[in-house]
Amino acid sequence: MNNGKKTPLRSTHWFGLQDRDGFIHRSWMKNQGFPSNLFDGRPVIGICNTWSELTPCNAHFRMIADRVKRGVYEAGGFPLEFPVMSLGETNIRPTAMLFRNLVSMDVEESIRGNPIDGVVLLCGCDKTTPSLMMGAASCDLPALVVSGGAMLNGHFHGVTIGSGTSVWSMSEDVRAGKMSCADFMDAESCMSRSAGHCMTMGTASTMACMVEALGMGMPQNATIPAVDSRRYVLAQEAGRRIVEMVRDDVKMSQILTRKAFENAIRVNAAIGGSTNAVLHLLALAGRVGVKLELDDFDRLGHALPLLVNLMPSGKFLMEDFYYAGGVPAVVRALGELIDRDALTVNGKTMGENTADAPCWNAEVIHGRDNPIRERAGIAVLRGNLAPGGALVKPSAATPRLLKHRGRAVVFTDIEDFKKRVDDPALEVDENSVMVLQGAGPKGYPGMPEVGNMPLPKKLLQRGITDVVRVSDARMSGTAYGTVVLHVTPESAAGGPLALVRDGDEIELDVEARKLELCVAAEELGRRRAEWKAPPPLASGGYQKLYIDHVLQADRGADLDFLVGARGAGIPRESH
Ligand code: FES
Repeated sequence: MNNGKKTPLRSTHWFGLQDRDGFIHRSWMKNQGFPSNLFDGRPVIGICNTWSELTPCNAHFRMIADRVKRGVYEAGGFPLEFPVMSLGETNIRPTAMLFRNLVSMDVEESIRGNPIDGVVLLCGCDKTTPSLMMGAASCDLPALVVSGGAMLNGHFHGVTIGSGTSVWSMSEDVRAGKMSCADFMDAESCMSRSAGHCMTMGTASTMACMVEALGMGMPQNATIPAVDSRRYVLAQEAGRRIVEMVRDDVKMSQILTRKAFENAIRVNAAIGGSTNAVLHLLALAGRVGVKLELDDFDRLGHALPLLVNLMPSGKFLMEDFYYAGGVPAVVRALGELIDRDALTVNGKTMGENTADAPCWNAEVIHGRDNPIRERAGIAVLRGNLAPGGALVKPSAATPRLLKHRGRAVVFTDIEDFKKRVDDPALEVDENSVMVLQGAGPKGYPGMPEVGNMPLPKKLLQRGITDVVRVSDARMSGTAYGTVVLHVTPESAAGGPLALVRDGDEIELDVEARKLELCVAAEELGRRRAEWKAPPPLASGGYQKLYIDHVLQADRGADLDFLVGARGAGIPRESH
């Protein structure tokens, strides 16, 4: 035995057996060339890898896994890499979010069913981070996240361009006749020019920052660029550290406490993080039994200032954020707003990790005395249009539209939107409120990132760049605009969003947290009586399971039967 612990490790229930079953567990592993001493009771570290050529943001993960292994070996552990389903945001249809919960099941069962004592989660592209953390949290073993890092800054025709954000703006320029299609196509290779995930403060970068703010990643895990050699040093250090965490039995639930989530919500506000973080943090909290509610995001985060000047709320990119000091500098700037006693995976508290964190560029990371925008955290709206809540991200919105009343232009689903948005006869102007139905968790299914509906061409050609948009969808963390998202209950579940008709007035008042459909209750009652649920979108398979069991956005859109931790007890033998 060489595990440094008083009690035997989980893996000894496989590799430590001196009988037929032990023979089977060890012998087949030895076909990979593992010598006998690796089965001597040392910590077995799973490296959960989301490498895939279909997930371009994670395509460099084999090298990262290799460095984690070096660290594990250095510390006396036995690293074993295993793949799980990988979600490439840009390729997978209908939306990666549909499969986040499926991946979490893959991760959970892969960990529990195998001789694993602790796990390093390799995460990058948007959904790979929450899905791996959710699955591991349901097992509650020692776990540590190594993020893949963002791409280098994009440059096109002398201008810095950012993943997603610049795609949305350039495509609107093409539709408005301000940019040629040929130039737009040329920008492709200028934007994505190195390994790594989106380098704006989109969902991937946001979730990497959440990992660090939660204490689940080493300091600077979020911001070191994917191709920077220091990313590989961090991976090696993480490999060493996870072995110590197993020896000290530091479980995930000791790190993912209520105060860790509160820290994450506050950091999300200060960085101008993605609205998707709300869904993912709610779902993750549900897995570890931390009571977290939608209103916590508003209560803890909305009054906070925007400190980090990154697209889509600002102008810089992740590479600049790292050079300026990264998440530790933001945590330090937030001062007493952060719970400094929260434990992190390196064995130190958040306060110890960030006490002396320098800020090297005050234009990228602002101080609280000089914020980019006051009261910029996510706001949770309620009213007769969203009794279960809805979100808006003020830092990415047009300030004058945060209080607005306008007539609805309703699209019944995304196909209806695409068919009619550029119809010259569409009755829409700058005061309209564009409404999209049928894009929630059950209705699409999977709650895609279509909430930031492109504006009608005729408005773009008049120089209009934003109108209020309302839907039960999500939006990419790289997107911007006055976009009300996650309307709950969703329209396919019979929420009031399903009852909106063209010409109805909708009132948005972010300061008052109000989202109202200004239609008399009797008329809404009449419409409700006429409403028919849409036909089932899936007759079988995972998609039916998802539609039947997915919770609404205010519960993080997890599957109802996945909520909670089920531990990592030793399963029965297979032979
Ligand atoms: Fe993978 Fe943006 S597409 S992080």
